[in-house]
Amino acid sequence: MWARARACGIRARSAKVAKRVAILLSGGGSNMVALARSMEGDHPARPCLVMANSRDVGGLRRAAEMGIETDFVDHRPFKGDRAAFEDALHARLIQASPDIICLAGFMRVLTEGFVARWQGRMINIHPSLLPKYRGLNTHARALEAGDAEAGCTVHEVTPALDDGPILGQARVPVLQGDTADVLAARVLVAEHALYPAVLRRFAAGDRRPVWIPDTD
Ligand code: GRF
Repeated sequence: MWARARACGIRARSAKVAKRVAILLSGGGSNMVALARSMEGDHPARPCLVMANSRDVGGLRRAAEMGIETDFVDHRPFKGDRAAFEDALHARLIQASPDIICLAGFMRVLTEGFVARWQGRMINIHPSLLPKYRGLNTHARALEAGDAEAGCTVHEVTPALDDGPILGQARVPVLQGDTADVLAARVLVAEHALYPAVLRRFAAGDRRPVWIPDTD
């Protein structure tokens, strides 16, 4: 009886349905690749769609090569009608029925309406140690300020730009002679470690932040 109950328990656990993850990007997709590669084995999630806001995006090609479904909604025909663009994006996402949306270098500012539809289920990676340097040119700004360290942050997406509860940060040193490009490359390596680590926890329903290096 006990053995049977245990066997059923094991079956119930292994039958757990993986969370569906949609990844939105606008560029080369190195973070998408890191996320997609991480979603294997006992990972609580699987990629269901990679979406871009343009057809000619390296990240879409890389996702297709990995066997992930891809699509795009070109923002240009919407000519500044952000809400209409987002309606099209939202409709496509609904078809894929994601549990989680990962923004990974998605270069469109999202309206409050879109964010409200996905709030609590949408996360973003930003290449600075938030709350420092929201917006663009984060590495040049860190160098300009003479910061001794830089890094990246994964946070829940809320209506305010690059805001929302922090789910993890990875820190790297700023080294003598760094240019913005050199620093960006060092931070990008940290992004590839941080984002998968946060997604794994987030998909398991655990919102405790990830710190790299681990300071807990
Ligand atoms: C990353 O630096 C990310 O932090 C920022 O956009 C960049 C995307 O790079 N939001 P990639 O397309 O993932 O290589």
